[in-house]
Amino acid sequence: MTVRSSVVFRVNSRRFEVAGRDCLRTLADFLRRDLSLPGTKVVCAEGDCGACTVLLGGVSEGRLRYKAVNSCILPLYALDSCHVVTVEGLKDGESLSAVQTALIDNHAAQCGYCTPGFACAMTALAEGALAAGNDAISEKKARNGLTGNLCRCTGYDSILKAAQAIPLAGMTGLSERWHSDEHMREFVELRGRSVAIESGGIGVFIPATLADALRLKKSLPGLKIVGGATDTGVLVNKGVEKSVRVMSLAHVPELSQVRKDGEWAEVGASVTLDDLEAFAEAEAPELGRLLHVFASPQIKNRATLAGNAVNASPIGDLIPFLMVSDAELELKSAGGGRRVALDAFYQGYKKIDLRPDELVAAVRFRLPSTGSVTRLYKASRRKDLDISAVAFAARLELDGRTIRSARLAFGGVAPTVLRMKEIEALWTGAEFTRELVARASADLPVTPISDVRGSKEFRLRLCRNLMLKFADETLAGLPS
Ligand SMILES: Cc1cc2nc3c(=O)[nH]c(=O)nc-3n(C[C@H](O)[C@H](O)[C@H](O)COP(=O)(O)OP(=O)(O)OC[C@H]3O[C@@H](n4cnc5c(N)ncnc54)[C@H](O)[C@@H]3O)c2cc1C
Ligand code: FES
Ligand code: FES
Repeated sequence: MTVRSSVVFRVNSRRFEVAGRDCLRTLADFLRRDLSLPGTKVVCAEGDCGACTVLLGGVSEGRLRYKAVNSCILPLYALDSCHVVTVEGLKDGESLSAVQTALIDNHAAQCGYCTPGFACAMTALAEGALAAGNDAISEKKARNGLTGNLCRCTGYDSILKAAQAIPLAGMTGLSERWHSDEHMREFVELRGRSVAIESGGIGVFIPATLADALRLKKSLPGLKIVGGATDTGVLVNKGVEKSVRVMSLAHVPELSQVRKDGEWAEVGASVTLDDLEAFAEAEAPELGRLLHVFASPQIKNRATLAGNAVNASPIGDLIPFLMVSDAELELKSAGGGRRVALDAFYQGYKKIDLRPDELVAAVRFRLPSTGSVTRLYKASRRKDLDISAVAFAARLELDGRTIRSARLAFGGVAPTVLRMKEIEALWTGAEFTRELVARASADLPVTPISDVRGSKEFRLRLCRNLMLKFADETLAGLPS
């Protein structure tokens, strides 16, 4: 198979091939400057406000599946073999789409700056509802689906009403409207051919096989892996990093799967948090609930579990859960592979046990067993789209009320997420009571810092209260 030296994607009804340094530009910039499609707005350029939302259609089971994404942090190389629909592409022939009409009929815009983003996010909601066979979008679904979009003048009531008023019956979804056998054939064929672009000091690689990815990582050790780019894209926009030599694993088929392996879950490096949420709802409901309040749909449609783990933030929301679930990282290099326990992977603030020639192929964690209790808490100033001040995860294996094993982890209290190993050892074999938890919570071995998300005293109080909440909720669920 010949290696390609450009990325190929479609925007609305046009096909593009982009090569060289342009591949590193953001989609929002490309739409507004090169394509004169100014409907897509840029406000925060950090994935927070949703003004830049567009729909990204990727190949899935012979169809294009469209999801809302933030174009301000999405590099063009991430669009390879995909179809982008912008607000200009929502129209059905000469008529406005059902979503756009619902926005007008419900007076859901004033200055209109946020409106294209809302129109695209609502179209994604409608796509999801159509795929699920629903005939309407409930208020709850509308609220959840629009957490990634901010409006500063209309007020949200009319926007939520518009979402619920979208007439799904008889509506033609984007997957049907934009379907073309010819485009699908081309995308599938392109995904089977690796991309290697090197020019003027930049490098963009999209290997089609894991073997190719590992070979590249060996020969170009400084090569940065980019997953969903939801951390990387923000850092690039802020000028904190350049990320000019990058590798995407999006076209390596075996890294895009989430599967059960006995009592373990194995989450491939490219599985998005949105797909993980669907898996977790069935297999690890507490993780499903946590993912429900993680970022926004736009972020979850791109972000990965591997990215959250490797980013190594002490307030990474998924890390405490992974720690109490005995998570391991499946690391691969051209020379072989190894598994590293996640709590050994972190060696200091953003210091990780990952060699330059290695990549994370998958994240494995133990699924909850019958008789175990897992609880996850995220304390943030806002419920939606906010980073934790403190996060707490606990998992107990119980025989009646006797603790067979305990796992506890806190985020936001130290340079890395911390396992409470001393408390875990002390609790093993003990009876689970409120007094046991209260004693441990009064003398926690954590030293949080004060910052914009809370003072150290506030954080310490949060830790104690979350432990007591955990005790009360767990005891309430145990037979008396
Ligand atoms: C608006 C917004 C809201 C957010 N909300 C939350 C939140 O609520 N909770 C939270 O925890 N985080 C949040 N984040 C942070 C971010 O979305 C997560 O950390 C996400 O999981 C990162 O995944 P990614 O695939 O996008 O990572 P990327 O940006 O692609 O990569 C992150 C890091 O991981 C490395 N990496 C990625 N994949 C691999 C691999 N396979 N092998 C080796 N290295 C790899 C990259 O090199 C990079 O250093 C938010 C971000 C934004 C912009
Ligand atoms: S401009 Fe705010 S999310 Fe992209
Ligand atoms: S209509 Fe003005 S910001 Fe939403």
